[in-house]
Order: sequence, then structure tokens, then C-alpha cells
Amino acid sequence: MKTLKDVDIAGKRVFLRVDFNVPLDAQGNVSDDARIQAAMPTILYAIEHQAKLIVASHLGRPKGKVNPAFSMKPVAERLSRLLGRPVPLLADSIGDAVQSAIDALHPQDVVMLENLRFHPEEEKNDDAFGKALAGLCDVYVNDAFAVSHRANASVEAMVRHAPVACAGFLLEKEMTYFRMALLDPKRPLVAIVGGAKVSSKIGLLKNLLGKVDKLIIGGAMANTFFRAMGISTGKSLVEADLIDTAAAVLAQARERHVPVYLPVDVVTAPAMQADVPVRRAPVQEIGDEDMALDIGAATVMLFAEALQDAATIVWNGPLGAFEIPAFSRGTLSLVDHVATSHAISIVGGGDTGAAVHLSGKADRMTYISTGGGAFLELLEGKALPGVVALESAP
Ligand code: 3PG
Repeated sequence: MKTLKDVDIAGKRVFLRVDFNVPLDAQGNVSDDARIQAAMPTILYAIEHQAKLIVASHLGRPKGKVNPAFSMKPVAERLSRLLGRPVPLLADSIGDAVQSAIDALHPQDVVMLENLRFHPEEEKNDDAFGKALAGLCDVYVNDAFAVSHRANASVEAMVRHAPVACAGFLLEKEMTYFRMALLDPKRPLVAIVGGAKVSSKIGLLKNLLGKVDKLIIGGAMANTFFRAMGISTGKSLVEADLIDTAAAVLAQARERHVPVYLPVDVVTAPAMQADVPVRRAPVQEIGDEDMALDIGAATVMLFAEALQDAATIVWNGPLGAFEIPAFSRGTLSLVDHVATSHAISIVGGGDTGAAVHLSGKADRMTYISTGGGAFLELLEGKALPGVVALESAP
């Protein structure tokens, strides 16, 4: 994959596809600019190297219609503040007015296009839309790792038409850490998989079993595994139709001699809400009215021991309902153990990143991916359309 450093961008119109799909607060301001910060090295490099920079992203899911609630305006404002220079927001992403604004750019100017998903053609990977976007630039740069699992026009079709296409530094970094995590890891490699649903992690579990030396499973998805082991789970979230799948995953792990670590104790409550009485119980003692909402202290110790000899740790999915303080201790304690280990630690998936940030230990992780779905698809062993397109680009 060619990267920005391989391309001459001086005086060129550079179309930078980023993923600035960031959360907004009730006032419509950017509430977490981590994804903007993550693209800054590419943006600063492009400015320093005299590019005429066209920044483009989607925001939310406006379903192909213009909707002011999904305007890139607050994002352009935040980028402008971070750069200390104006970042005008153009009214659209294609068309004559956009073309004239781009024609008037000078080296080191930065403009932002309006939300690409205001056009239904974006998510349809429409070739003509991709061609129209490519017509705006001399060089196309994909630095949008977090949306590179979507075959969208600005991620895939556009690459076919751009005169030159390459990866930005964030995309390059994400793929480098993914390689360290799964393709060429230092061993032992231990994966921690959590989250609510087995259904969203089947592909990942199957792929990981062929790669990891140990597998740790927590979060509500562990309940479905308990049921596969004949353990009652009371009112806990269980995917009844996936109990057999969970049993098959355990059987596959045995065949491959991959040790699987499941919780041995849990924090339970009658409901998933704050201010309810909580109880700690061995998993064999989950009551009929209980919901298992976090891993218990014995499980934290067990998981910490399993991590002790790890050279690489890959983590996707929280181990409990960490958004509620009463059920956050398990996840946060394990973050502490990962943070103090000597292993390379690579964390990804929106919630997992949020949990690590909540712990205040984010800077102790080797890498926190900006991807949610994109990181998950890499762990599932899938190729990302945005990366595949770049690999075969001119
Ligand atoms: C993300 O936030 O995961 C990406 O921006 C992709 O968004 P999407 O799930 O709406 O395609």
C-alpha cells in the first residue's frame, strides 16, 4: 500500500477521506474529538508539504438526505480550532460551487466538504459519484480506517478514478498494529473478548481460535457460554439460539488446545440500572431473579493470571455493563492489569476504547484503535474494502 510519503503533494489538490464520525453533545458540539486528533499527523503533514487540502467525511447516518442535524459544521469548527487556521465548510461534496471553491484554493489552504452521506450514492458505492469526487482532486488519501470496512463511494469506487491514491498515516498505523496483534504477533498471544452478544462475535471467535494461545471471554456474552455448560443464568441476557454455537466454540477450542477462560464469579443485580442492590456470586449460584452484570473479583484474578505471560494482548468488548459504576469494576480492574503488563496491548471497538479512557489508563495501552466495526472485521479475518482498493490502486 502506497502511503502519503511516497507521493508528491506540493501544490496538488489532495482529497483526504477521514472518519470524523464523532459524537456530538446536546448542543450539537463535538463531545469527543479523538478521531479528529488521530488524523492530525496526516493533516499537518499535508499542510506542511504545500497541499491544497480537501477534507471529507460522513457523520452519522442521514440516510442519503440533507439533514442539518448531521452537518459537518461543528466538525469543521473543531478542526479549525485545532489547526489554528480557517477551515471553511463547503455547502456540498460535489457540484459546480464545490469545484469553484476548490479551484480557488492555494497551497496550505484547508476546506471541508459537507457530509458525504447527504448523497445516497455514497453508501451505494455508486461509481459515478466516486468519479465525480475523484474529479475534484489530483491525489486521493484514505485516512479513514474506521469506515474502511464499508464499500462506500469515497472509500472504494473513488479509488478507481483518482489519478493517484494512497494511505494516510492513521490508516497505515492501524494496519501496522493489526499486523502486530494478529498476523505476526509476539507470543503468547492472548485475546480478551467481551460485549453483550455472541451473535456479533461469532466470526471473531472462530477466527481468533486459529490464532491465539489463550482466549478470555467475559461480558454478557459469557452467559450464553454458561448455558452451553449447563449453568443457570437467571434473568441474565442470553441468546438462546446461540447456546449450541457457544458449545461448538468451546469444542473447537478444545480441539485446537486453546485454553478458554470464562468468569468464575459475577456481580449480579435484579436489573441493569444504578442504585439496585448488588451481590457477588460464584457463577454456579446465579439466582433465578439475578442478572449477571459484571465479572467478580475472583474472575479478575483468574484473568490477570492468564495474562501474566502474555507477550501480546488483543482486547475487544467490555467485561460488564461498565457504563454503570456498580458494574464497571471488573472491566476497569482488568484495564489496570493490562496497563501494568509488559505485553503489547492493542484495544479496539468503540465501547472498549471508551472503557479504557474511563479508566484513565489509555496512555498505558500500546494502541487503541479508532475503529469499531472496522477493527471487528479485521479480527474476523475479513479484508477491508478500503484497504483492498488502495492495494490495487495506481
Ligand atoms: C463508525 O463509526 O464505526 C464508522 O464511522 C462507520 O459508521 P457506520 O457504521 O454508520 O457505517
